Order: sequence, then structure tokens, then C-alpha cells
Amino acid sequence: MTDQSITSVSRESRAFKPSAEFKAQANLGSEATYKRLYAESVNSPEKFWSRQAKELLVWRKPFRSVVKWNAPHAEWFGGGMLNVAENCLDRHLGTARENKAALIFEGEPGDVRTITYKQLHFHVCRLAHVFENLNVGKGDRVAIYMPMVPEAVVAMLACARVGAIHTVVFGGFSSESLKDRINDCGAKLVITADGGWRRGKVVELKKTVDEALEHTPSVQTVLVLRRCKNEINMQEGRDIWWHEAWEGAPNHHKAKAFPSEHPLFILYTSGSTGKPKGVLHTSAGYLLGCKLSSQYVFDLKESDLYFCSADIGWITGHSYVVYGLLSNGATVFLYEGAPNEPGPDRFWRMIDRHGITIFYTAPTAIRAFMRWGDNYVLSHQLSSLRLLGSVGEPINPEAWMWYHRMIGKKRCPIVDTWWQTETGSIMITPLPGVTTCKPGSATRPFFGVVPKVVDEKGKEVPKGQGGKLVITKPWPSMLRTLWGDDRRYQQTYFSEYPGIYFTGDGARQDKDGYFWIVGRIDDVLNISGHRLGTAEVESALVAHPAVAEAAAVGRPDDLKGQSLVCFVTLKSGIEATEDLKQKLRAHVAKEIGALARPDSIRFAAALPKTRSGKIMRRILKEIAVGGEVKGDTTTLEDFTVVATLQAED
Ligand code: PRX
Repeated sequence: MTDQSITSVSRESRAFKPSAEFKAQANLGSEATYKRLYAESVNSPEKFWSRQAKELLVWRKPFRSVVKWNAPHAEWFGGGMLNVAENCLDRHLGTARENKAALIFEGEPGDVRTITYKQLHFHVCRLAHVFENLNVGKGDRVAIYMPMVPEAVVAMLACARVGAIHTVVFGGFSSESLKDRINDCGAKLVITADGGWRRGKVVELKKTVDEALEHTPSVQTVLVLRRCKNEINMQEGRDIWWHEAWEGAPNHHKAKAFPSEHPLFILYTSGSTGKPKGVLHTSAGYLLGCKLSSQYVFDLKESDLYFCSADIGWITGHSYVVYGLLSNGATVFLYEGAPNEPGPDRFWRMIDRHGITIFYTAPTAIRAFMRWGDNYVLSHQLSSLRLLGSVGEPINPEAWMWYHRMIGKKRCPIVDTWWQTETGSIMITPLPGVTTCKPGSATRPFFGVVPKVVDEKGKEVPKGQGGKLVITKPWPSMLRTLWGDDRRYQQTYFSEYPGIYFTGDGARQDKDGYFWIVGRIDDVLNISGHRLGTAEVESALVAHPAVAEAAAVGRPDDLKGQSLVCFVTLKSGIEATEDLKQKLRAHVAKEIGALARPDSIRFAAALPKTRSGKIMRRILKEIAVGGEVKGDTTTLEDFTVVATLQAED
């Protein structure tokens, strides 16, 4: 083995076949259909995508070409014209879906609203008029900084309707982060709310906007939704109330058509270094990717009530709360607040209360549920659920098994979906009713996706061996560039292997061709010449009954290259003892092999995470190495976690 290859050690061998019952009703009911469609999608992509685009999207003007790939730039559905909002709303009017709920909303205080497709259309039309009155239209940038309320969805769709480009900034970001994003894209309009509810308190969004706007020359107007009725400052000539601005605006609006490649949104995503990248997605290809994947991955049916716990400030919220679901005419459940407000069973309570059938969440949340304890789950029925999903990180097999047993009651398929902000839609995933699942594996590529695991030279590695994950062919929902920085786009994604998209993730394919993501390449450990994914060590630790969550990082070591330091949080009620440390070290050595025996285990009350719940190993590494955190911590959710870890050092 060269020191460039990645040792992948997971020995997970459990497999779960789809039940006959699920299979019988699945949208894509057979392995043969998957194989046939997949083969067509990669061997004759133009034929496949042309058919899908014609069947699934509403066009104002038909496209002339399917794809023009001038690496690394793609043009999909050239010559075609459409309106994305019309594809999510108007198309359902005059059909049986017209009076179907598009959104069912529950606020953190418990307030519930149902908004039908017809009503959502009215709302979006009215806001589109407000935009036009403010002279906000085609190509203008609009920053959305809102709580998870229906109006956030309305704001996104109204942008799409008038051809403005939205950039949603997650409501947990600071004024500094908001300011940087507004300035990077030169937003003209900011849409916000007085506040949003989180853990029983008001998050004062407008106040943060006011601070950010001290240094944002491009912003002309701030549109403010009244949500919490907290006191705010309205700046004369700049700030207007949503409810006043749209008073009297007509609830019908003739939408213009825009070219297929018209920019739909910019979404900032933090890299491990440097300033956030403004990932740009465009209209037709993006929408098609979201719509097609939603239909098959979530096995959507007219009667489903779908709940994705991601905020619309993340790509998951864009693709699988808004665009993929509404274009399919689904009913989407939106929740405003924290998962443990007023108690750790909030989600289960809402699932039973509303009859939610599909639940899509992140491994970090699943591990939190595990940590809070089974009793919070067991006091609810969860009998309406029929499908579960996971996204955002590798799901460790223990968490998968818990999700399967405790939430899915062994009845619901789990779709472990691998994708990225950049890919726009789901890329590697089981198809429910078809794919046999292995806990911890995202399994096989979705239609049109050609992933490969390659070595440093770009050569495909043998099955069973780890390497870097690349996508070798363009796909409709891929990012088109980084806003204002095409050079960085080329460098970040297409310079490692010219003309081929580099994901930044390490992976391995097993003998059945299943993909196992071992985590970000930046997080790879190098111990005595073995490059090990952090996810594998962490997964072994979490498999121990005492452990709730774990993060593995490397510390420079003269002898081994790196020594392995693991930060571990324990389940409630477990005592942190020296003896347990030794047991955990032995446990990892037994699970993975002696090479992965942690050199040091540190117990921590909590781990530093980004606001989207990803563990920030970079920070833990700094603590492990020098005890002090010097790097950028602006994307950190809670700095006190770091302060505590530093103090303990
Ligand atoms: O490392 C992979 C991990 O999350 C990264 C993408 O993060 P982001 O752009 O924030 O998008 C998250 C929501 C799509 C990937 O490069 N990741 C995401 N899903 C999975 C995953 N790792 C393993 N398994 C997954 N299912």
C-alpha cells in the first residue's frame, strides 16, 4: 500500500432487504427498472435527460440542446425558457392539488398554519408585485435572513418568479457573516423578520440585520415580516413591513419566462479555509435534479406528509423542502424551532400530531436523539412514518440501527443520501423498495451520476480500497460556478483531476459496488502510513454503549506521522473514568485493528460544531496540538464548547 491510498476498515456486514410490502407500492419497484434506467442515464444521457425534462418540467419554450459540456462549464437545456415558481405552483392550479396543503407549519410556540397550493400561489404573486414595485427583478440579488416560517418559502419562490437571485443566509449566522455574504453578492433587497422562536426565546433577526447593514452599500430596502412582535427599529426610507407592503397587491401575477441557465440562487458554503464560497445554481437543470430525485428517493405519494428538519438556509432546505417537493405537488411540513423545545420529544410529538409519513434528518440529530434517551421516543407511536432519510455526514452504523429500530420500528426503509451544496441534488442513495441497505453506506449512484473512487493519479482503485471520490460526468443540477470567482471554481473542483469534478470526500466501493463515504479528505488521518477516515474511528467509538458522540483528529507524532486523539461525549448518566478510557482504546483496537488504537481519549461535555451540525475537527485538532484555537471560529455554533475544551487541556 502506498501512503497515498486510504485504508478503509469498516467491517459492517449487516444488510437489509426492502420489505415485500414496501416494494409492492414503490415508485420504482424493481431492481431491473433501476438497472435499465441507470444504464440509459449514463450511456445515453441526452436521451434520458431530454425525456425527463420534457415530462417533469413545464416549459414556455422548448430547449434545443440537452447538454453542452465545455469542462468545467456546463449548459443544460440550451434555448429553453421556463419559470421555476410556475413549475412549483401554477402547474398545480386547476388540478386536484389546487386545494391540497402545500405547507403545514408548526411554530415553536405551537401555532399551526396550513397553506394550500392555491394560497401559496396567492402569497407568492403578491410578493412578486411588491418586488416589482421595489424595482427588484431579473438578476438582482436578494438576501433572505428569516426564521423557518412559510414566508421564507414565499420569499424564495417570489424571487424565482421575478428572476431575482436569492441567497438565503441561515438565521443562526452572525451580523458579520451576513454582511460578508450581502457584500459578496451585492444584494439590493434584504428580507428578514423581527425575530424567530428558538428554544423558547426570540432570536432577534432584525437587530442582526441592522448591524450588518452598517457596512453594506448595495442594500436599498429591507422587507420585514412580523413574527414575534418583539420591538425593533425601522429605518425610515429603508425598512418596510411585509404586511404593509403587500396590502392591496393583486394575488395574481403573470410570470415571465427565463432561460434554462438563468441563475436561481447563490448559497454560501464554508470551505475548510478562506472565505465562504458562493455556490451558484441555475434554473432548469437544478429543478429537474431536485424533482426527479424527490420522486424516487422519497417515493413520494399524493397522500404523504413530508418533514425535513433542515433549515432553508442550507442546501437541503432549498432542494428538499422547497424546490424538489413543491414541484412534485407534495405536502411539506415546516417546523420553526429547536428539536428539544419544550422537551426532547418535540419531533416525535409533531410526527404523531400531524401524521407525518416521511422524515429526513441528519446523523448529528440522530445521535442527539440517542443521547437524550429512548424513553422520549417510546412514549410516542410514530405509526404514520413510512420512510426515513439521512443526510449531511456519514451515518455511523450504530446510529443507523437505532434510527431503523427506534424511529422506523424496523418497518421504514432508510435512505442515506450522499450529496453536497455543490451537487444541488442527491447523488448516491438507496432507492426505497429496490436497494438492499447496508448501515453506513449511501449505496449506489442515482440516475445520471457516475462516481468513481480514484487514487492520486486519477486511476480507479480496486474495489475494497479507499480513495478520493470524483464524479466523472456532468449532471443537470451541478453548480455552474462560484459567484464572482470562476477561477476558484475551477481550482477547487476541477484542478485535482482536470475536467473531472472532485468532491473533496474520501470513499471506498465494496465488492457489491456500494459506496462508503469515509469523510472529507481534509479530515483524513495518517497513522503509520495508513490513511484512515475519521468517520471510521468515530463510528467504532460510537458503537460502544457508553459513547454518544466522538470526533477523531490527528496530532503530529515523530514516530507514527500522526497520533490519534479522540474526543468523546458520553451518554447521559455514564461516568467518565480512567478505566473507561482504557476500555474505549481497547474497543477501537478490537474493532478496527491495533493501528487505530487511540493514543489519547478526552471526554468532553460537547463537541464544537458548525451551525449545520458538522463537527469542526479543525478546531479539535488545534486543541489537541497546542491547546489553543487560533483559526477562524465564525461558523461555530457555540464558542463556549471550545472555551471549555481549552480550559480542560
Ligand atoms: O462530506 C460529505 C458530507 O457532507 C458534505 C457536503 O456538505 P454540504 O455541502 O453542507 O451539504 C450537506 C447536505 C447535502 C459531503 O461532501 N455528506 C453529506 N451527506 C452525506 C455525507 N457524508 C456521508 N454520507 C452522506 N449521506
